[in-house]
Amino acid sequence: MSSLGTAQGNGRYALLVLPAANRVYTQASWELACAELRVFGHAVLGDRLREIERREIGGVPYVGFSAAELTPRDAAFLANLSSAHALFRVHGRLLEPVELRPLDRFDDDLVTIQRYPGKTNERFTRLLLNVTILASSFGADLLDRRLRVLDPLCGRGTTLNQALMYGFDAAGIDLDGRDFDAYVQFIRQWLQHKRIKHRAEVTTVRRDRHAVGRRLQVTLTVDGIEIDFVNADTGRGLEFFRPRSFDVLVADLPYGVQHGSRAAAGLSRGPFELVTQALPVWMELLRPGGAVGLAWNTHVATRDALTGALADAGLEVADAEPYRGFRHRVDQAIVRDIVVARRP
Ligand SMILES: C[S@@+](CC[C@H](N)C(=O)[O-])C[C@H]1O[C@@H](n2cnc3c(N)ncnc32)[C@H](O)[C@@H]1O
Repeated sequence: MSSLGTAQGNGRYALLVLPAANRVYTQASWELACAELRVFGHAVLGDRLREIERREIGGVPYVGFSAAELTPRDAAFLANLSSAHALFRVHGRLLEPVELRPLDRFDDDLVTIQRYPGKTNERFTRLLLNVTILASSFGADLLDRRLRVLDPLCGRGTTLNQALMYGFDAAGIDLDGRDFDAYVQFIRQWLQHKRIKHRAEVTTVRRDRHAVGRRLQVTLTVDGIEIDFVNADTGRGLEFFRPRSFDVLVADLPYGVQHGSRAAAGLSRGPFELVTQALPVWMELLRPGGAVGLAWNTHVATRDALTGALADAGLEVADAEPYRGFRHRVDQAIVRDIVVARRP
């Protein structure tokens, strides 16, 4: 174990990783936590974090790093790390807590209650959202601005709920009517149960008298935060949302493996084919400087294939070192990775 002493001019810090993150990623949790920390360091902390690595203190593993004194704003960014449990400044053998106040506006059951086959883990969803925002031109706005987030393959809304946690406007598209119904039921019940005043309506959207999709629109009364979920093919996104209206797009692509009841018609296209067809629409929905972040199963498409498709659509892939550290094993059939790209 390397020394935890204070290097000259630098403080040493130790980040305690959420036990839940260890359960989700098992061995990979350290690498993912280090990679996410590197992206935060690069994007919003002026590359001031050094020596980011797994360390043990008193037999407990931490992510250690060194940095010139962290300001309260630095700590406010790091509070939102998807695996952050607690942060300490290390003084010799003593740990001094650094106050962490994540953006979280609601109880975390908003992201944890729903359980279903095919759900994207909520911690991983937070990681993907963070890394995508940080790769966009709006990373520095994470703490200050109500961003607009779209998940164009939103399933039962894990990304929508995570965006809501941050106080952002959340939009989603999914073709599976059962996912749409389940989300409508969940969010209505949850808002009622928490006594959060809101308006909610489900409508059928028509063009030339033909139904093109169902739509859930929710507005929270206090601050006007919006949830907007459309049940339609993602390739039709521009029929529902204005061009250049989203700061980030975040999606967990179909894994190319069956999740129990998920064999509905139209969902059978391969993930790579789906992305290449939808990318021109997704790109148009992003505002300049916005970023798209995709998670996918590397068994069904290579990183080069995805980065190539993103570049062909006119996006700038963030492929520098900190963005290449997210590949991890989920189970026997899935080795997942993340790719992010910015609209110039
Ligand atoms: C990996 S799942 C996303 C799960 C989601 N993040 C969640 O936690 O619920 C991929 C989603 O893509 C949706 N999908 C597949 N093809 C689609 C298409 N052409 N248009 C819209 N949604 C599609 C599926 O219905 C599925 O919900």
